[in-house]
Amino acid sequence: MKKKMERALNKQVNAELYSSYLYLAMESYFQSISLNGFAKWMRGQVQEEMFHGMKIYDYVHERGGRAQFEAIDKPQTQWESPLAAFEHILAHEQAVTGLINNLIDVALDTRDHAAKAFLDWFITEQVEEEATVGEIVDRLRLIGNDSSGLFFLDAELAKREFTLPAK
Ligand code: FEO
Repeated sequence: MKKKMERALNKQVNAELYSSYLYLAMESYFQSISLNGFAKWMRGQVQEEMFHGMKIYDYVHERGGRAQFEAIDKPQTQWESPLAAFEHILAHEQAVTGLINNLIDVALDTRDHAAKAFLDWFITEQVEEEATVGEIVDRLRLIGNDSSGLFFLDAELAKREFTLPAK
């Protein structure tokens, strides 16, 4: 694997671990306002992002590369409402989609078709993530200041069980 591709993949590992850290901060925020279903849903996100990071980390090694370690940025830790937190997630996931697209550009520039095939999984994953989060944002906007609607959604989100995707 070309060094340029290896560096770009390593940067993405850091970005995925940052996502995991950001969602952990959100889990803590939701726990602090006793929306435990939201907090549980967020725990699933934490694990999913860690899985994404590890999937890329493993791939770097599979291709004979070496992991690089950088500091993981401090995430925001407080939001003014559940809607503000989910709008943040949506904007964040849209930015991550941009990062994955940039990675694919590097794969194409370096004629690394194996990396391109590997990264296609993430393209599909981002479509799903943006759709899921976008739906929750829409529902939170409809709920507005109706606390019974919020508790109903909290109960629904509590049902999320995280299972590791097939590798
Ligand atoms: Fe790893 Fe939410 O993208």
